[in-house]
Amino acid sequence: MLHFELSEIAPKEFEGNVIFLYGNDVSDRKLPLTKKELDYLKSHSENDPEAVVVFDRLPYHLYVVCFDGEKPAQVSQEHLRKNAAKVVDMIKKECLDEECCDTALTGEGVIPEEIVAFMEGMWLADYSFDRYKTKEPKHVGKVYVESNFLSKEDLDSNVRLWNRIYWCREWVNMPVADLNAEKFASELDDIAKDLKVDCTVFDKKKIEELGMGGLLAVNQGSVDEPRFVVMEYKPRHAVNTKPLALVGKGVMYDTGGLNIKTGDYMSEMKSDMAGAATMASVLFAAAENELPVHVVALLPLTDSRPGFNAYAPDDVLTMYDGTTVEVVNTDAEGRLILADAIAYAVRNYSPELVVDAATLTGAAVRAIGTYGIAAMQQHAENPFQLLRIIGEQVHERVVEFPFWDDYDEHVKSDFADLKNCGPGQAGTITAGKFLAHFAKETPYIHLDIAGVAYFSKKQWYYAPGASGFGIRLLYAFIQMYEGASKGKM
Ligand code: BES
Ligand code: ZN
Ligand code: ZN
Repeated sequence: MLHFELSEIAPKEFEGNVIFLYGNDVSDRKLPLTKKELDYLKSHSENDPEAVVVFDRLPYHLYVVCFDGEKPAQVSQEHLRKNAAKVVDMIKKECLDEECCDTALTGEGVIPEEIVAFMEGMWLADYSFDRYKTKEPKHVGKVYVESNFLSKEDLDSNVRLWNRIYWCREWVNMPVADLNAEKFASELDDIAKDLKVDCTVFDKKKIEELGMGGLLAVNQGSVDEPRFVVMEYKPRHAVNTKPLALVGKGVMYDTGGLNIKTGDYMSEMKSDMAGAATMASVLFAAAENELPVHVVALLPLTDSRPGFNAYAPDDVLTMYDGTTVEVVNTDAEGRLILADAIAYAVRNYSPELVVDAATLTGAAVRAIGTYGIAAMQQHAENPFQLLRIIGEQVHERVVEFPFWDDYDEHVKSDFADLKNCGPGQAGTITAGKFLAHFAKETPYIHLDIAGVAYFSKKQWYYAPGASGFGIRLLYAFIQMYEGASKGKM
């Protein structure tokens, strides 16, 4: 596994691979290149300012990563992440064993943020889901990072965040056979204990007492019990008086229920708990890095199956807040469990802001593909703007879908207060509108991560499978959250 270590690096002497970030206005002092090689590099980088130029130093390699720091920070940093992924692929391909994968990372004409973006790209790209492989796949080993660029504290806090992304991807990639609601809840509880985060796990009996009709209905066809996980990180120095509530969809597997998914549509539905995994990871990262923000996470967990006394279309459910819901389609299950969780957050925590993350609709993927998050907001214009800007900075982009009143008609039912499925148009917004009902007057942001939580094929610096997309976004949002309590958001 990739491991970063700070070190003083003299590229000319280093015994191993060297990655050199070659920014603007470099003096060429540190580059171990001959005059001819340098001329070659310069002409290459003039042609392609974002090239990766490789020099053989067998058994090692020198990777010169050109980049243009004059471009807007978000553009050049994303180039660095992508080029980091290219270099990781090359290192893994060229190295015969883990030891000869040892690599030094340095550069000239670069700023710390650029080094960090490159490291981030390396970390994300080095990940693969290896748990079930009998032969250990190759990974980049130790990476010595030039200590002039980064303090030990900065390195450690970044690695803690990236480690949370690693775990989120592990959980999402794990099949339901090995990670059901009960196991996931107990794993979260163990981590919370270690991090001194308050964690309460409600079992089925407690969920029944609370009257979470949505979560219970979705669970009805399953042999595995549901869980509802409540976690709270409340630092003494919190900048907010009312908490930020993070709600995550935790459908451990989505078969569709009685409206069973047909054809290929069921495969990859182990990823339907990515919202819960994302929100747990964000809260853990905030706690580990002691961010001064009071955060709660509410995670409804269950699988959705057509077995036994499975809930059926036409059923009418009574939700945690008393709202009645007509079930039109059992495959629109995510909004049912989230509705209970959002209502629970609003009633028990009076949050300043509720944000949810959910792999909620195929329509989100059809609308914008796999390049960003389909988002909506109600009474939360200012925090949403902040989130949008941060999304561009960290390249976990968010696009706002409209929440016009007209869509309210989509979720009106003839037989109950609401129905869980609309006319088929604007399905992503219909789902958002359904959820917004349960947030009431509380500022609310809905993130539909269906397109980005899990990639069927390699994209950017992500291997096929879970991405952890959204963790960097929400973590950075919490870092900047101070403004919320001071009316700046
Ligand atoms: N988990 C799915 C949404 C999904 C689809 C996520 C593809 C990731 C990739 C969700 O529960 C679902 O089945 N939604 C239905 C809603 C419909 C029945 C109103 C959909 O999008 O088809
Ligand atoms: Zn579904
Ligand atoms: Zn689902």
